[in-house]
Amino acid sequence: MKSEIYNNVKMPKLGLGTWQLKDSACQDMVLYALENTVCRHIDTAQAYGNEAQVGAAIEKSSVARDDIFLTTKVWMENFKADDVIPSIEKSLEKLKTDYCDLILVHWPDKDIPFDETLGALKKAQEQGKTRLIGISNYTTDQVEKVRGDLGYDVAVNQCEYHPFLDQSVLIDQARKHGMIFTAYSPIAQGKVMSDETLKKIAEEHNKTPVQVTLRWLYQQERVVAIPRSSSKGHITDNFDIFDFELSQGEMDRIFDLGKKEMRIVDPDFAPEWDVAA
Ligand SMILES: NC(=O)c1ccc[n+]([C@@H]2O[C@H](COP(=O)([O-])OP(=O)(O)OC[C@H]3O[C@@H](n4cnc5c(N)ncnc54)[C@H](OP(=O)(O)O)[C@@H]3O)[C@@H](O)[C@H]2O)c1
Repeated sequence: MKSEIYNNVKMPKLGLGTWQLKDSACQDMVLYALENTVCRHIDTAQAYGNEAQVGAAIEKSSVARDDIFLTTKVWMENFKADDVIPSIEKSLEKLKTDYCDLILVHWPDKDIPFDETLGALKKAQEQGKTRLIGISNYTTDQVEKVRGDLGYDVAVNQCEYHPFLDQSVLIDQARKHGMIFTAYSPIAQGKVMSDETLKKIAEEHNKTPVQVTLRWLYQQERVVAIPRSSSKGHITDNFDIFDFELSQGEMDRIFDLGKKEMRIVDPDFAPEWDVAA
């Protein structure tokens, strides 16, 4: 599998999301993915309440820690300067590791200045607690502020992205800065399965609409995707997308679906999202 690279750190282009995976099911799925597929990239968060299970699976697996790209995210209750590093120390303890590969600020905060949270996150990076730092759910203006005015070397912006949501403005910005754009909810929480265009393209390749969607994301420069599944069969399928290729025409037919502008994750504390150009 290909990786995207930031500051010499390799981030595999396809990983396993773990939101809503709880308890032993989380541990089982992470372990399954590591042992039975080419998955070497796991995405968790303080808010998911499953860092301990992710850590247990990594510890149990036969894959070396250094061969896994591990992301966690600092949750909003820990955004104050004095809370960031202690919360990361707790996360690392649960994850049973000395470091993460990437730690993200989970959402932009309306009250606590970005500088406060990112300043502490940068300190954690200097202490070796994470190789890369990043942000999640930030708009283009907020990314400019963080990289430009504030000067933080954020590697990643992780946002919702799937065939039904055009995120070209944010992706172009990430490319311009040499950043990586991680697509969350990459299969629109399963909604891609019933789309006629995706079904047709899938039939032509003897694949499923989910696999076509993940291949479409995989073929996009600087884009990484982290589908979640609680099913071993689905995890096997999701990491079986390397034996076919979509033509430019097929890619474009899928890009066209972005006009639907279907946003799934939109809590009341979300920022004012960018709109497609
Ligand atoms: N930064 C953020 O604010 C944020 C927000 C949302 C998500 N995320 C991250 O992104 C990850 C993925 O997003 P998501 O969990 O929202 O949704 P998703 O990955 O787009 O979709 C997950 C859903 O798709 C189904 N599915 C997975 N593989 C399938 C397959 N091969 N065939 C049919 N159905 C399949 C799953 O059901 P089964 O369990 O039955 O397979 C599940 O219901 C999260 O887990 C999390 O790590 C981050």
